[in-house]
Amino acid sequence: MIITIDGPAGAGKSTAAKLLAKKINFQFLDTGAMYRAVALAALNTGASSFNEPALEQILSKLTIKLEENKVILNGMDVSIQIRTKETTELAGVIATSKVVRTKLVELQRAAAFERNMVCEGRDQGTTVFPEAFCKFFLTARPEMRAQRRYIELQEKGVHTTLQEILDAIISRDLRDENREISPLVPAHDAMILDTSDMHMNNVIEVMHQEIQRRGMQ
Ligand code: DC
Repeated sequence: MIITIDGPAGAGKSTAAKLLAKKINFQFLDTGAMYRAVALAALNTGASSFNEPALEQILSKLTIKLEENKVILNGMDVSIQIRTKETTELAGVIATSKVVRTKLVELQRAAAFERNMVCEGRDQGTTVFPEAFCKFFLTARPEMRAQRRYIELQEKGVHTTLQEILDAIISRDLRDENREISPLVPAHDAMILDTSDMHMNNVIEVMHQEIQRRGMQ
């Protein structure tokens, strides 16, 4: 059984997905971490731009494993490196690539096969799991999302400013919403939640009620 949570950066998806998965005893899939891991692998090649054949070559050599709160790229724990500004920026760029999206969609479906999973990303309800049992689209005002991301990064020891994050969020939103393949849009059957003025407990409660309303105990 699959539950999808999509939405823009900083809308609370990761936290909501983790908490919801825990509450209903599902596994959790952070698909943004997979795009970030590919971006890091690309950065590690030392090249500065990546066309489709170059990305295909990078993809053919990498293994990504997502463990509880850890991202393992080619056997190395890269959970911190995938959150840097440089990797974040490149992740948004390589997420427009057809070869990257095709490969990661395949890995995401394989990861969820015969599992109960809360899958979080941008295209989970629209492209990856169109038949998901329940779909959510979380959003929030950009200023609120920037504020949340700022606190999150500070806690992780990544140094940046609030304005820098807000600018990055706005430009990433634009790119995510306007890309040709799997743009960031709510699935037609998703429940849309604006979390700007909601406490996370409240978000989880609303989601849980919706899941129960659809028949899951
Ligand atoms: O959620 P995040 O910030 O970790 O995502 C990193 C980048 O990957 C972001 O630019 C959007 C992109 N992404 C995507 O295109 N599709 C997904 N399913 C998940 C993330």
